[in-house]
Amino acid sequence: MTSRVTATVDLTAIRHNVGVVRALAPHSRIMAPVKADAYGHGAVPVARALENAKVDALAVASLAEALSLRDAHIQAPIALLEGVMSFEEAAQAVYEQLHIVVHDHWQIALLEKLPPSARLTLWFKLDSGMHRLGFPLADVPQLVAALQRHPGWSFAGWMTHFACADELENPFTAEQIRRFDDALQGIPGARSMANSAGLIGWPQARRDWVRPGLALYGCSPLPSVSAQSIGLKPAMQLHSRLIAVRQYAAGEGIGYGQNYRCQRAMRIGVVAVGYADGIHRAFANGTPVLIRGARAQFAGRVSMDMITVDLQNVPSAEVGDAVTLWGHGLPAEEVAPWASTLAYELFCGLTRRVDFRYLGG
Ligand SMILES: Cc1ncc(COP(=O)(O)O)c(C=O)c1O
Repeated sequence: MTSRVTATVDLTAIRHNVGVVRALAPHSRIMAPVKADAYGHGAVPVARALENAKVDALAVASLAEALSLRDAHIQAPIALLEGVMSFEEAAQAVYEQLHIVVHDHWQIALLEKLPPSARLTLWFKLDSGMHRLGFPLADVPQLVAALQRHPGWSFAGWMTHFACADELENPFTAEQIRRFDDALQGIPGARSMANSAGLIGWPQARRDWVRPGLALYGCSPLPSVSAQSIGLKPAMQLHSRLIAVRQYAAGEGIGYGQNYRCQRAMRIGVVAVGYADGIHRAFANGTPVLIRGARAQFAGRVSMDMITVDLQNVPSAEVGDAVTLWGHGLPAEEVAPWASTLAYELFCGLTRRVDFRYLGG
């Protein structure tokens, strides 16, 4: 069967991107987020590639995500970024040797119910200003006391998360770094602050551990720094194909609601990909795609199974041609703003109808 929409994930690109991260933060250990099915790239094959590239730990959002990696015999340390939800989850996390990120006192209370012999590894997450998860910085002495009460607990370190690290001109990242450092002054334990934007844009945030997600998938979260300029390679190429090419007269409307009008006699191509594959309906007229190495543009609304594109820049385009929605030559982070979103959401939004293929496994 011919594939309609294919996401080709190049695992050698992911391993290469680990090398880029290492070169940026040579003295840091790497915790690689593979939550949300490795940002839509496929958690198990990506985790295997990351293990192969010898990252120091993986990170997921939920126990279920961690268990599916353990089921696939992924043995690397795995951090649960939101910690555990119940005593049962705590017990299972310990059994599977997961590293629990603890962000609130109710989670400490759960862990204290475990038998003293439980071999528990935990991080403490501090809220340095993002105001999502994390203990208030003033709670640090209480957390130190909790560690002293439980000498059997293995403490991995202190973590915080940035709110605005993708905005290089925004002083709040430096403020978060200052608050975190002040709260932990003189207190032992590894430190971890940087997501991809922190790693790339804020060298002073590269501490004992970095936690870049998006960068490992080959994208830059910083509008002012392209992935290519720092050597990152996009791991995913999303392709479909042209299934019809038609000529229309000036003034004809295209697609649902006729929200695009031909300004002149135009060749319009129909591409077999739509919102049921994960191409948001919010994508505007003008969104770029690549055909035969040239840029064509969305012309008309995204429908469930198809998009329509203006072929003016690709006069030789014909039925059967491959169409790149994002990947080499067309970074996902450049496409995403056309639907008022980010590369993260494009990747995570791909549906089960997309065929995934893996290279370099
Ligand atoms: C706690 C934490 N650390 C690191 C990351 C990785 O962020 P990014 O993909 O922007 O590098 C995330 C992602 O949301 C996160 O929640």
